[in-house]
Amino acid sequence: MDEWVRLVYFSRSAAQFDVHGVLRIVDTARTNNARSDITGALLFSHDHFLQVLEGDPVVVNALYRKIVLDERHTDPVLLDYRPIANRCFGKWSMAFCSQEQATREVLRQFCGADTLRPALLSGDDAVALLQAVTSHADDRAHDAGS
Ligand SMILES: Cc1cc2nc3c(=O)[nH]c(=O)nc-3n(C[C@H](O)[C@H](O)[C@H](O)COP(=O)(O)O)c2cc1C
Repeated sequence: MDEWVRLVYFSRSAAQFDVHGVLRIVDTARTNNARSDITGALLFSHDHFLQVLEGDPVVVNALYRKIVLDERHTDPVLLDYRPIANRCFGKWSMAFCSQEQATREVLRQFCGADTLRPALLSGDDAVALLQAVTSHADDRAHDAGS
């Protein structure tokens, strides 16, 4: 059986960061992740990133080391890291959801507020939130910001 891990973290976007910049990240992520069999999801909301990465442990760890050094965000906090038998985001090289797509209902359900409060989330809740918001997302880059 394949041995995969799931890593979940959140971070704060660097100052002066807008959604167009996020779409560039998503483009790169999709190209690279497809090549290295990484799947996952990224939410950008209220100046925070919430991301899940799934795949081979060596590859996921190397990618996370690269991501935390990226100056487009800051203060990364690891929420969860665990072995998994099945992927939750198997059909996404990187599903993307923007603030507009993270509905208030979903944010209220998981964060108890209209804004994303990732520090209050358990790893499981973070994954459930990302599953809820990406259930309407599209894996095609040109749709990522719509
Ligand atoms: C919030 C955030 C999430 C990112 N997610 C990924 C990702 O899933 N995959 C990826 O390859 N790069 C991701 N990146 C970009 C990496 O930090 C890095 O810039 C990129 O992997 C370099 O790609 P290159 O070696 O092809 O130039 C992310 C960056 C940020 C700020």
